[in-house]
Amino acid sequence: MIHEIALTIKPTMKCNMRCKHCFNGDDLNGTEMIEPERVCQFIESACREYCDVKVTFHGGEPTLAGNAFYRTVFAFQKQMIDRYNVKFSNNFTTNGLLLNDELIELLIANNTLINISFDGPYHDFLRQDSELVYEKICYVKAKGGRVRAFCTISKGSYEHLLEIYKWFNERRIDFKILPIEPRGYAAIDRELLMDTDHFISVLTDTYKYWIKDKTCKIKFYTFEEFAALRRDTQFKPFWFNREIALNPDGKIYPFGRPNDIQFCLGEPTDSFRISRCFYADEYKRMLETLNRLRKEYCTDCDSLGVCNGVCICMSYMYVQDDALLRYSCNQSNKIFKAVLAVNDEIMNDFRQGETEKYSDIIKNKFAEK
Ligand SMILES: C[S@@+](CC[C@H](N)C(=O)[O-])C[C@H]1O[C@@H](n2cnc3c(N)ncnc32)[C@H](O)[C@@H]1O
Repeated sequence: MIHEIALTIKPTMKCNMRCKHCFNGDDLNGTEMIEPERVCQFIESACREYCDVKVTFHGGEPTLAGNAFYRTVFAFQKQMIDRYNVKFSNNFTTNGLLLNDELIELLIANNTLINISFDGPYHDFLRQDSELVYEKICYVKAKGGRVRAFCTISKGSYEHLLEIYKWFNERRIDFKILPIEPRGYAAIDRELLMDTDHFISVLTDTYKYWIKDKTCKIKFYTFEEFAALRRDTQFKPFWFNREIALNPDGKIYPFGRPNDIQFCLGEPTDSFRISRCFYADEYKRMLETLNRLRKEYCTDCDSLGVCNGVCICMSYMYVQDDALLRYSCNQSNKIFKAVLAVNDEIMNDFRQGETEKYSDIIKNKFAEK
């Protein structure tokens, strides 16, 4: 058995929220809705080969598939556990509007990490219904659900990042930030974008505050990832041979992001083997393209050691747009440099035994290294 596979399932690209910045842009008009049987075939093909199966429901808006869809899929996962002795971990990324009692209970019963897109006190800058979404978050938490807010930051909010962190901390809501990227609608309405240098400065100041904040009671995912960053480690391991997506058209594609539809790897059938996708000609073609881009963009980059082309690969999967690749590289490089400089200071303090000023999260992260 192969160890781990990450499946992204996009039941539909339809959405019931009109976010001003959405990277799916006009794909939102797609009306296709996947058949649950197709999803089950996909899941079973993973279970035949892998023992750890991570499933992320995404979209579009995955709640639009309806409760019956998830009843079927989660019941099928139980059959798979009995048949193949596999382990599932489920993630569900939603705008929260259609989360109802039954679906919430189903997600909780299947130990799903529910990612609710919510921008805290600045939610209505990019989207609508902030009170309703906040109520849903509180409700899921009160029911004992695992919730994480996906907080997109943009021109309307990034200068208030420290306030946003405090806001989530006071309310005990775990979160991560998604810096806005110029894709889809956000590529058209550039007024939504941040000034990169100013963003890095605000991000660094907030990170410096957080490392010493002993009142922190939440998991701030972005900063915990930053705190794990070292000059000799790669920030994110490559997702090659590990991540794969089933789109609303019922076909399989590499990686679970939008706009990756140019590399179709097949359709799940009763005898389909997912591992073969990674040897498919289309997969090789994608890797060749990425390697060519990495040579072109990464060779002279200061952050090559920690990034190793991850930012370029991710941007490439979104769009084949030189401007976006450069935007993404520039921003990532500056973030890496700023965070590593702060982490150097922390390590220096730890060498001198000056650890008291830091939060327990930092003490644990830096003591263990
Ligand atoms: C595209 S939505 C799809 C899933 C679901 N409908 C939801 O709202 O969470 C997933 C996340 O991507 C974020 N997102 C969309 N467009 C983006 C952009 N241009 N830059 C950064 N994040 C973006 C959204 O804010 C949302 O949190």
